[in-house]
Amino acid sequence: MPRQDPRDTDMNSQPNNRAEPRHIAIIMDGNGRWASRRHLPRAAGHKAGVQALRGIVEHALTHRIEVLTVYAFSSENWRRPEEEVRFLMDLFITSLKEQVQELHQHGVAVSFIGDHQAFSKKLQQAITEAESLTGNNQALNLVVAANYGGRWDITNACRKLAARVAAGKLEIQELDEVQVGRTLSLGHFPEPDLFIRTGGERRISNYLLWQMAYTELYFTEVLWPDFNHQDLDIAINWYRERQRRFGQTSEQLTVSTVPD
Ligand code: FPP
Repeated sequence: MPRQDPRDTDMNSQPNNRAEPRHIAIIMDGNGRWASRRHLPRAAGHKAGVQALRGIVEHALTHRIEVLTVYAFSSENWRRPEEEVRFLMDLFITSLKEQVQELHQHGVAVSFIGDHQAFSKKLQQAITEAESLTGNNQALNLVVAANYGGRWDITNACRKLAARVAAGKLEIQELDEVQVGRTLSLGHFPEPDLFIRTGGERRISNYLLWQMAYTELYFTEVLWPDFNHQDLDIAINWYRERQRRFGQTSEQLTVSTVPD
């Protein structure tokens, strides 16, 4: 039976107090260090990173995760050496073309968030093709954040909402957190329950700033190309042990008032 599309629910900004994460957001860090430890070029680390992502998508399917959002390229990554940026762009195109059919067969809906105007026509086309081929799939939503930044996302939402106010379609008094949340990227998905950053840094790095207000933050030293299904299980088990209070006291939670 097809699973309910999380986009159909109106509960996206409601806290998930279930034991299993519905939405996992990942910063895939450490590709460069993985490569340099092996005396390989950084590009080899990124290639190995794609393989790691493949394994994690498979495992997310077996865990019946609803949404997996991965940070593939931040707005700040343009500052990297030109050669590395070019390599990453080519890698996105080839990986998309190579993997999209298999993802489709497994029922994965692939979508992208971020400002894609700076991307080549070829990459924009590969993104559009992947999104339209897989858009109706129900098993897992794989969201790739590319040329994405949390501040860009919030600014973009402000612009859209201001335009609606200016056009007389929205009253300022109607503008609330629900409206803002829905206007952001991922506004139609439940907010991330679990954030994972590999590679040892303990930062959010301008990722899903608004959307991660209540997300459990998990950091691991494991470099992204080495991050495998066992590491994902460790992170999910760690999440299961968190007590998500959402501003309530532990005593209140024992008589649970937060909707399931
Ligand atoms: C960070 O490691 C990684 C990136 C900037 C790129 C991540 C991209 C992939 C894994 C490919 C994903 C592909 C698709 C199609 C979604 P780093 O280079 O910052 O590593 P370092 O901190 O060790 O230098």
